[in-house]
Parts: sequence; C-alpha cells; structure tokens
Amino acid sequence: MKHLSETVLDVRNQFPIFDHPLPKGQPVTFLDTAASAQKPQTVIDREREVCERYYANAYRGVYRFGAMVDEELEASREAVRKLLGAESRDELAFTAGATMSLNVIANGWGRRHLQPGDEILLSVLEHHANFVPWQQVVAATGAKLRFIPLTPAGELDLSDPELFNNRTRIVAVTGMSNVLGTLPPLAELSQRAHAVGAILVVDAAQSLPHGPIDVVATGIDFLACSGHKLYGPTGVGILYGRKELLAETDPLIFGGHMIDQVHQDHSTWADPPARFEAGTLPIVQAIALRPALEFMESVGYEAMHAHELELTQAAHAQLAEIPGIQIYGPPPERKGSIVSFTMEGAAAEDIAHLLDRKGVFVRHGHHCTMPLHTWLGVPATVRASFGVYNNLDDVQRLADALRYVRQRLKLDT
Ligand code: ALA
Repeated sequence: MKHLSETVLDVRNQFPIFDHPLPKGQPVTFLDTAASAQKPQTVIDREREVCERYYANAYRGVYRFGAMVDEELEASREAVRKLLGAESRDELAFTAGATMSLNVIANGWGRRHLQPGDEILLSVLEHHANFVPWQQVVAATGAKLRFIPLTPAGELDLSDPELFNNRTRIVAVTGMSNVLGTLPPLAELSQRAHAVGAILVVDAAQSLPHGPIDVVATGIDFLACSGHKLYGPTGVGILYGRKELLAETDPLIFGGHMIDQVHQDHSTWADPPARFEAGTLPIVQAIALRPALEFMESVGYEAMHAHELELTQAAHAQLAEIPGIQIYGPPPERKGSIVSFTMEGAAAEDIAHLLDRKGVFVRHGHHCTMPLHTWLGVPATVRASFGVYNNLDDVQRLADALRYVRQRLKLDT
C-alpha cells in the first residue's frame, strides 16, 4: 500500500480551493471537513457539465436529455450501492441529506411501528439530527428514549445486560461522533439489537467519508448519509433501508413521482425508492456524487485511513505541548480524524476567531450535540477535523496559531 503522505500533494492539487491563498499569501488551513468537505475538481466539473450539456428533469422525459439524466442518476445510485454493499439499488433513495434521511426513518418507520412502552436506544454522542426526530416520535407514540452510557473516554459502555431488552425496538447510533470521533462497534450493536428483535439505524454522515461500510456484513437496517461530507455536492443525501423495511416505511414528503395512483379522495404510493423521492430531485448534485465517490476510491480507503490517523496523532502530540489544552474523546488509534478541545481561560468562539486570523478554519460551539456537551461539562469545544487533503503543515499551523491565541489572550503572563 502506498502511504497517502507520499502522494498527498497530488490529492491536494485536485482541490481548487487551495489554489487561492488568503490575503498576504496566507495559506488556507481548512480544518472543518467534519462540517463539510471541500470538493475535488471532478465534482465541480461534473456539476457544470450536467448543466451545460444535458440538463433536464429526471424520471419524466423520454427525450434524450431526460434519458441521459436518468442514466447518470442510476449510475450514481449504483456507485452508492457499491460503497455500502447494499443488495439492490432499490434500497437507496436520494434525499436532501442525512438529516432528511433520519427524519424519514424516524417518522416513516418509527411512528408506524412503535407502541407505548417500546424503547429507542440512542447514545449521548448523537448529533441533533439523530436525536430530535426520535424525541418527536416518542412524543407521538408513547415510546421511550433510553441512552447507552459512555465510558470516561467517550466510548459506548455496553456492559449493562439490561440495555437491550424485549422492549427495545430501535437502536439508533452514529457511525462516528462528530465531536469525539468515537467509532461505535456497529457489528456488535447490530447483533445485540437483532437478538432482541430491534433494528439498527446508523447515522453515517461522519463515518462514511473515511471508508465504506458494508451494510449487509455489518447488519445495518437503515443508514443515512450526506453527499457534501463525502467530498460531493450539498443538497443530496442517501437513505438506505433493507428492502423489507423500506416496504413498510411511510413517506415523509408527498407530491409528484412518489405516487402509484392518485384519486380525488386518496392516493397510493410508489415502491421504494421513488416513494421517498417526491418532487424534483437534486439532479445535478446526485449525479455529481459519483465522481466524489470515485475520487475517494482513487485515493484508496486504507491509504486515507493511514494518512488521517497520522494527522490526528500529530495533532494530539502537538496540542499536548500547549498549556491549558484539554482534548476530549478516545485516543487517535480508537477514533476518526477529529480533535475537539478546550483551552483553559479562553472561550471556544474567541479561539476560533483568532485562529481565523492565521488562516486556520475550525468549528466551535456545541456542534449540534448539546446533550454530549452537557455530558462533557463544557458549553462549547473547538473542533479541528481532517480530510484527505490536509497535511502535517496544517497541523503545525494549527499548533502555531494556538500559541498565538495564548499570546493574544495573555494566557501565559
Ligand atoms: N454535522 C456537521 C458538523 O458536525 C455540520 O459540523
């Protein structure tokens, strides 16, 4: 395996965002890939090509532009099927993003199947998108939320034998925490969920950009992800559901294309995936998802993992040298390429502003995980997250910029 560090310049060169330095020649140190990844040239080119060469609405016209769009959309769906190891393209619907997919799962399957007293097992790690929809479902059905406790390092503590019981119907967890980088043991969760007759829902928005997930081998029943985190366009996401489960999932959005029959007084629904694709799809974005996945495959998932681990380890080592910094979550070897931290005496927002002055772009705040921050005991953290295009210079610039923060805030005097 060729180590990605040897070729990282080639990879970075595929991202035009880095060709445009900031004022005074400052390089862009983009450390916010967990919020949204930058786009390789092939993705940008494909979006433009669709608009310039053959754009039309999808699944409606038999004329040649319409047929080309349909063909490209199905090629994109097939690329996603391969990435997830799903059995059929019919198990994959294009949605607006992971949030929309999770809302379909919660409302479309959850509301239909949950009874008062049933339990939904979540973790405190969850992004609000895998939290709030379930709260709504619980309010509507009389089911209850339960939480998998965390170890002090922020990993799932599955030791309680009562966690999974005969009331558990749904286990809904992240594939990778967007704050701590924690990687829940999905195969074990699946086994334990299935052993009590529950289903496993995975919010893969953060994990999928770092490597494929085999939904069949892992035993995942529903999965949600977003294109923009996969080096692809915004506005498109994926809903995966096992065939039998999608067949018993109600649509969330109603309108054109998702119907079978419409009468004056009632309507019936198309089979999946069309049932979940009401209205006009994000056509251009869904088509341009394919070059994004091809880009990831061309880099190679093992090389990508090794590279991101090296950056994460370097960040941990460098930040450990800076006084007052506390990093949250598991050690680099046990998590994804996310480093969330606080600096004693400095507010997260002030740190982010000062880092921006040095061209270092990070996210700060609760990162749409208020319950997790309550558990951490801090209102906000600063998060540096790495993608394939980052390099060790970026890590060095982060560390240098954090020393500058200390100076500006007079924390060393
Ligand atoms: N979910 C994205 C993040 O963690 C927006 O930043």
